[in-house]
Amino acid sequence: MDAVIHRFGEISSTQSEARRLIDAGDADAGHIIVADRQTKGRGRFGRTWLSPQGGLYATFIVTARPGLSLISGVAVIRALARFGVHAGLKWPNDVMLNEAKLAGILIEIAGELALVGIGINLTAAPLETATSVQTAGTTARRGELIVAIREEMTQVETTNDLRTAYREHLRTLGKEVRIVPENEGPAIFGTAVDIDTDGQLLVETERGSRTISTGECLHLRVEPERNDDGMSP
Ligand code: BTN
Repeated sequence: MDAVIHRFGEISSTQSEARRLIDAGDADAGHIIVADRQTKGRGRFGRTWLSPQGGLYATFIVTARPGLSLISGVAVIRALARFGVHAGLKWPNDVMLNEAKLAGILIEIAGELALVGIGINLTAAPLETATSVQTAGTTARRGELIVAIREEMTQVETTNDLRTAYREHLRTLGKEVRIVPENEGPAIFGTAVDIDTDGQLLVETERGSRTISTGECLHLRVEPERNDDGMSP
């Protein structure tokens, strides 16, 4: 079935617009909200998502269900790979290229629906810690990438081992990490060893194992990624 796409020039946030359209009875599961620019793009932890012209800003309205965070992360990675961009995931679903952020995913619940908000830096990286598809030396058209993400979300949905599919792209495993909990609380330091079936991160700390459901993850002591010949780039 063809997706219904609501396309805008400049709006505050595709997430807010999705909510408005749902409340007005004008959007439902399967609809996608796309904007050229956002004036109040938002990220996880209430942060601002800088959204200048040239990036991909889209909210996919889907039925709320378990595993969406993993499904969306894997779908974005696979969609980007179709355009030659081989990115990885930093737990839970930051899309990274060599430790620089390429894309982010924000999932919000609206009743029985979920708003999967995806922001991808296509032409420019709005922050020093970020990168873009263009910096990676390739190009991906926004429209084609949105179609690819939608197709991959449907495809990933049918996988009978989502955890394995997600693990395959998760660069956090085996790394020393610092997790800052979403709510107040001390940071957790340790080695990320695995994820469970719900996508929670298992971290070995000096005081034993911890299972972490949400928070911001930082990779510590990052080694440069290596090419196939074993040499650093
Ligand atoms: C993150 O913090 O990593 C998540 C960023 C999500 C940004 C996207 S852009 C499209 C959608 N609309 C928003 O306001 N946010 C999400």
